[in-house]
Amino acid sequence: MTLLSVSGLEAGYETGQVLFGVDIDVEDGELVSLLGRNGAGKTTTLRAIAGGTEPTVLGGTIGFDGQELSGSAPYEIASRGISFVPEERRCFPRLSVVENIRLAINHAENPKDIETVLEFFPELSEMREKHAKNMSGGEQQMLAIARALAANPRLMLLDEPFEGLAPYIVRRIEDIIAEINDQQEIAVLLVEQNVAAAVAVADYHYILAEGRIVESVSTAQLRANEEVRQRYLGV
Ligand SMILES: Nc1ncnc2c1ncn2[C@@H]1O[C@H](COP(=O)(O)OP(=O)(O)O)[C@@H](O)[C@H]1O
Ligand SMILES: [Mg+2]
Repeated sequence: MTLLSVSGLEAGYETGQVLFGVDIDVEDGELVSLLGRNGAGKTTTLRAIAGGTEPTVLGGTIGFDGQELSGSAPYEIASRGISFVPEERRCFPRLSVVENIRLAINHAENPKDIETVLEFFPELSEMREKHAKNMSGGEQQMLAIARALAANPRLMLLDEPFEGLAPYIVRRIEDIIAEINDQQEIAVLLVEQNVAAAVAVADYHYILAEGRIVESVSTAQLRANEEVRQRYLGV
């Protein structure tokens, strides 16, 4: 079943239109990446799905579980089962691991229990009282994903979760995302510039260039097609 169906999405800011007809389908339980260079419109796409004041949606439809999402408030979209982990990770710096997760639980309609969440994050489980501001970038990214998982979503939107992290942490977070997807049957739409990491976890990839989806390919197709990688991704 198609869980998320973005069709002909056009969106932009006061300064101008950024998306010119984006089509993305995510099936129930699927792990899909949205790849593209800096400025292609990846974050704008995720923000349009998650709702909020920016960007302005100018056209197209965003269907989720058979219902239209665009025009709904962010809390409504969250309560229908979409968790968004933005690029800036948005943990509360002065709160501990447990307090950060509890806040996410308190804001959700049908949350997971904190021990179920922490099972996926043994590292966090060992630093329950540590404040987010004293944690490494990788640990903060884990905490941001833990908060998203606590809301018990059907779809997680992750904006460049590997950015700025050391390779061993990238691999650890790849594993966590794959485990959550597999064991909790949560669909994931992963935005990335890091093609190697996206290929390691996602089965299917949409490539965005200048606000348009220019290719949609399987991992095997992306690996085999150097021309597409070079032209749109520079790798
Ligand atoms: N808040 C904003 N106001 C105006 N323009 C923006 C804003 N956010 C992003 N943009 C512009 O939209 C385009 C796409 O940005 P973005 O979606 O962040 O790309 P990506 O995430 O792929 O790097 C860029 O030209 C960027 O400058
Ligand atoms: Mg971005």
